[in-house]
Amino acid sequence: MKKTLFISRDAIAQRVAELAREIARDYGQDKPILIGVLNGSVFFFADLVRALDLPCEIDFVRAASYGMSMDSSGCIRLTKEPEIPLEGRRVLLVEDIVDTGQTISLLIETLRHQNPKELKICVLIDKLERRTQEVPIDYYGFRVEEGFLVGYGLDYAEQYRQLPEIFTLEP
Ligand code: IMP
Ligand code: MG
Repeated sequence: MKKTLFISRDAIAQRVAELAREIARDYGQDKPILIGVLNGSVFFFADLVRALDLPCEIDFVRAASYGMSMDSSGCIRLTKEPEIPLEGRRVLLVEDIVDTGQTISLLIETLRHQNPKELKICVLIDKLERRTQEVPIDYYGFRVEEGFLVGYGLDYAEQYRQLPEIFTLEP
């Protein structure tokens, strides 16, 4: 596999700082719950939350990935549920990448059952080419047309997550 540098450490840090400012401005004193989607969002989530000048709470979800069973109501199976009650709260879901949009759509659907007051999405990479579900993305770090990316939490078969930069990966 050929790995090519795509987004540098500095570019990531700068964009995360911009996003944090934007989010802090939008939420004011509403104390949102930021929910990181494991595993891919860990580094993005940690950097983003630490850059936020905002009272907030953090939690995590983990969804069974590609190809795992969904129940008949169109929900995804959560292998880790948020532990802070979401009822009546402003919730910001933080994900690594939105590709087809299926995963995030099902996550939203599932978390809505807890009646949050608001549910918004922040994604590091908004990848457009294969989108099949319309997804309301409220904040994104980078928008790309296509390609397979690894690093800064993004994996290929659980590899490369630990890289501090983002690379394209080609056969
Ligand atoms: P979606 O349901 O098609 O939007 O897929 C989302 C999931 O697919 C992400 O959470 C990733 O786990 C994986 N994925 C999609 N594109 C990439 C990529 O370019 N690099 C790494 N993982 C990806
Ligand atoms: Mg993922």
